[in-house]
Amino acid sequence: MSVVTIARQGDIATVTVDNPPVNALGLALRQGLWDAVAELDADPAVRAVVLICAGRTFIAGADVTEFGKPPVEPHLPELVARIEAAEKPWVAAIHGSALGGGFEVALGCRFRVALPDASVGLPEVTLGIIPGAGGTVRTPRLCGVETAVDMATAGKPLRAPKALAAGLIDAVIEGDLLEGAVAFARAAIEQPLPLPVSAREIAAPDAAFWTEAEKAVAKAAKGAAAPARVLASIRKAAEVPFTEAMDFERETFMALRGTEQAAALRTVFFAERAAPRPAALRDVQPLPLKKLAVIGGGTMGAGIIAAIRDAGLPVILIERDDEAVARGLSNVAKVFDGGVKRGKLTEAQAQTLKDGVTGTTDYAALVDVDMVIEAVFEEIGVKRAVFTQLGEHCRTDAVLATNTSYLDPRTIAEGLPNPSRFIGLHFFSPANVMKLLEIVPTPETSPETLATGFALGRLLKKIPVQSGICEGFIGNRILKRYRAAAEGLVRKGVPIARIDAAMRSYGLAMGPFEAQDLGGLDIAYLQREGARAAGQDVPETLGDILVRADRKGQKTGGGWYDYVAGDRKPQVSATVTELLAAQIGPESAMSEADVATALVGEMAAEGQAILNEGIASSPTDIDLVEIHGYGFPRWRGGPMFATRARD
Ligand code: 3HC
Ligand code: NAI
Repeated sequence: MSVVTIARQGDIATVTVDNPPVNALGLALRQGLWDAVAELDADPAVRAVVLICAGRTFIAGADVTEFGKPPVEPHLPELVARIEAAEKPWVAAIHGSALGGGFEVALGCRFRVALPDASVGLPEVTLGIIPGAGGTVRTPRLCGVETAVDMATAGKPLRAPKALAAGLIDAVIEGDLLEGAVAFARAAIEQPLPLPVSAREIAAPDAAFWTEAEKAVAKAAKGAAAPARVLASIRKAAEVPFTEAMDFERETFMALRGTEQAAALRTVFFAERAAPRPAALRDVQPLPLKKLAVIGGGTMGAGIIAAIRDAGLPVILIERDDEAVARGLSNVAKVFDGGVKRGKLTEAQAQTLKDGVTGTTDYAALVDVDMVIEAVFEEIGVKRAVFTQLGEHCRTDAVLATNTSYLDPRTIAEGLPNPSRFIGLHFFSPANVMKLLEIVPTPETSPETLATGFALGRLLKKIPVQSGICEGFIGNRILKRYRAAAEGLVRKGVPIARIDAAMRSYGLAMGPFEAQDLGGLDIAYLQREGARAAGQDVPETLGDILVRADRKGQKTGGGWYDYVAGDRKPQVSATVTELLAAQIGPESAMSEADVATALVGEMAAEGQAILNEGIASSPTDIDLVEIHGYGFPRWRGGPMFATRARD
């Protein structure tokens, strides 16, 4: 079947694109649209054309799978120009998302109309490229330079009402899109037509605007190259004639397509989409998830509850006593109140979210829940007691999950009736924000239970990654090696501040030591002490020395650094130098770049060990864990991608 079909409603033609899954602009679609312009231009009965899409969305962009290959004609910029130059005005009728090349096609149309929940945007920077078919040149001609810069450098789409206010679309259609768009077209041809977008003027801002914008974009990009190139392209559009700016944009687009950053971001793009639906579970039906419960309303429990409520499901919170129930509910309420403060939620929405949580101490309330997620203290005795209760009170087919960070899920599940429905679901803090969800089956976990874990991941819009059982699973095991390696460098005389600066320059939000100061050094310390008490041989770390000197991080006024009260800025600490003097060698000349290479190499080496042991099933899974759980720079593709052997 053709991906483009043409129909006529009197003097208005409709061009329908049907190229599942997202109407991406592959060769067949570009050719189909090219031919449609010719056919409709030649038809004297047609006065206007409505471009509309079947399926879940308007054209979602260029076909990313074509990016590794040489471009084939008709190229997108020429197609957009051809639509713009058509003798009949085209109206883009947008539902879902008009993104990247899809939005550029819409910009070639004389008019754009959209459903209220549709969005438009230029997300190319998220793929390490810039728009390549006029996005940076036409957009500022519609909405002005400032909005175009915000939109294209961040890559965040705009919803229809905002797009209307910005001048990016001409109307929001309530009701049936096709009907509304045809009516719009019919009315529009009775009026003088507006200029094609390319013929419109841009109000060029002054030099100071660009200096400020360059600074802001560089700061937000954290090492990613594309945002600054988008800015340069919009600047060109504001300063030189249309065709010259188009050439500049296309050259930049072509140059960026082949870069390492673009390859990394493309790999991550596809890995993120594949992660929620592993091939091995394709034929396994997950169990239905309608009503969930969480045990423990502390840091993690409250975040998990918030994530479940965001997905619209009711949750029961079980805590150990009434006071803890009240504290847990208040922890959850704080998450939603924070949403109100940041303008993300209305008071009414926050109230609805809160109302969907029932707090109790009574396990009998769990009689009809489909899944329970345990997030109580990280102590085996406490967890086992909880699962004994769950075994007694839950349906035998209800999935029982633990959020343990380090305990062995097999030990937690011991004695459970029907252990096939038991699974580890390891969330990351804050659980309603962090995308990563490690899914840890035991040897007894059934495929249905595993599939239900992934179904929960999809429901909560997480990036689920399956992990085998080992201490710390994938993420915390790599973290441990990374931190140990960072301490190793300190022992060799590399200053703590240089190591942190190196990792920030590499693209992480924080270095290993400032991150520990923020989270607290005591948690890992207690874990090491626990292992020592259990007779394991855990060598003394530099962190142990600091914790014993009551330097547990920011919360005690100091850890690896000193902190002035009320200021989170780390200050190099003479006390730490003194405390660690006996452990530290003479100052090393190791550069920041060498530090980053060494530490990322350690992460990748641990990743490789994890792969060799079958704990993770692919290098991309490890990269997703690092990107979505630990803030590894996305544009580097993750430690495995960044250190892989180049062909
Ligand atoms: N090219 C090729 N395949 C694409 C694609 C694209 N642009 N966008 C999505 N897909 C594929 C996905 O890989 C996935 O495939 P799968 O089913 O085999 O796993 C399938 O389409 C569905 O994608 P999602 O799971 O993401 O579907 P959603 O309904 O959740 O989201 C969407 C739809 C909002 C359109 C989302 O897919 C999206 O954001 N896509 C990317 C849009 C984008 O980045 N466009 C710009 C491309 S670059 C460009 O246009 C350059 C131009 O300026 C020249
Ligand atoms: P927390 O101390 O903030 O919360 C634990 C909660 O469990 C408390 O509210 C406590 O009252 C409740 N609780 C204790 N015993 C209970 C019982 N018998 N019945 C019902 N409730 C009980 O701890 P946090 O940080 O939320 O951790 C919980 C679990 O999540 C631990 O297993 C931890 O390892 C894991 N985890 C923690 C992460 C973090 O960053 N804090 C990240 C990922 C996992």
